[in-house]
Amino acid sequence: MTSDLKLLSSYEGPALSTPNRVVMAPMTRNRAGESRVANPMMATYYAQRATAGLLISESVDVSPEAIGYPGTPGLYSAEMVAGWKQVVDAVRDAQDEPAPFFCQLFHTGRVSHTSLRADGTPGHAPSAIQADVQLYTPVGMVQASVPKAMTGEDITRTIGHYVAAAEGAVAAGFDGVELNAGNGYLLHQFLADGTNQRTDGYGGSVDGRLRFVLEVIDAVSEAIGPDKVAVRVSPVNTTNGVSDSDPHATFTALAEALDGRGLAYLHVIESCDSATVTPAIREAFGGTLIVNDGYDCDRGEHAITTGLADLVSYGRMFLANPDLPRRFAEGASLNEPDAATFYGGAEPGYIDYPALD
Ligand SMILES: Cc1cc2nc3c(=O)[nH]c(=O)nc-3n(C[C@H](O)[C@H](O)[C@H](O)COP(=O)(O)O)c2cc1C
Repeated sequence: MTSDLKLLSSYEGPALSTPNRVVMAPMTRNRAGESRVANPMMATYYAQRATAGLLISESVDVSPEAIGYPGTPGLYSAEMVAGWKQVVDAVRDAQDEPAPFFCQLFHTGRVSHTSLRADGTPGHAPSAIQADVQLYTPVGMVQASVPKAMTGEDITRTIGHYVAAAEGAVAAGFDGVELNAGNGYLLHQFLADGTNQRTDGYGGSVDGRLRFVLEVIDAVSEAIGPDKVAVRVSPVNTTNGVSDSDPHATFTALAEALDGRGLAYLHVIESCDSATVTPAIREAFGGTLIVNDGYDCDRGEHAITTGLADLVSYGRMFLANPDLPRRFAEGASLNEPDAATFYGGAEPGYIDYPALD
């Protein structure tokens, strides 16, 4: 791609290299059906977006206990690994130049409902505090169930689920995994003091609230290598009812703890109009940093030229524009995303957004 934009230049980081700096952000699209096995339609969707400098998959359930939505894909069986392998293979076939493809792993924690779970149990969370959030479930729109506060045994088992899913991702051909520690899901619930009111070693002080997240990161790093592990955070957003009384302190401490662990990258969601915690994270974390939320071409270019970040991820723009890097290079107009087809459905609004001729 010929362009003077830094956004379109290649990137060589300590543990990640990309052919350009336009990243496809992770986006849940709920199209894996009841089997939760990635399918050929999903392979088409990701392959259409193969020119991203780094592709990140939608959030993938690490175990049946992690489920909080209909139609999200999983990575906890041989069939699921095979399903994802066809997606990764399709992306590789579509790439003119190699670019990494990471699998985002999540556990929804308290953002779940008993009707979504085969055994009818509630979600697990650091503390038994119900999320004030309505969920789309087989029994209609309902408030998330009161979660079960995780025991030490639950914590150990869940870490094992992350490790197994990460190994499955590598077996499917992904270059690594991005641990979703943002948007109010399980890892974020442990980090934030509004959702983590534990009195054992996994709560209380900032160090206590970081502990579970660091244990997951270290266990997964040990299993697949730290350069195949990335982390996504959303310090200030209150998605899914999460809140923290001092996100600056919590997330700067996390960034400091992650520095030196040899991770692939850290991915921060914070509005491009008011990125207040991101500069402190940038200072504390010496590895590759990706920023996200509301960026367009100009703002992304600015983030890179000013040194705020190394790479910029695009969610809705990539959803609606499969050839986004080329459109940035040519200054071409952009397709508008259709929010009505974001979550669930079939081909319309998924694989029928046109690329440039
Ligand atoms: C349809 C849709 C699904 C999303 N699913 C996820 C997800 O699975 N994991 C995640 O970390 N963020 C998810 N997000 C958030 C995006 O990754 C991104 O942070 C958000 O869209 C803001 O970036 P943008 O302004 O470039 O769209 C989703 C966003 C959208 C629009």
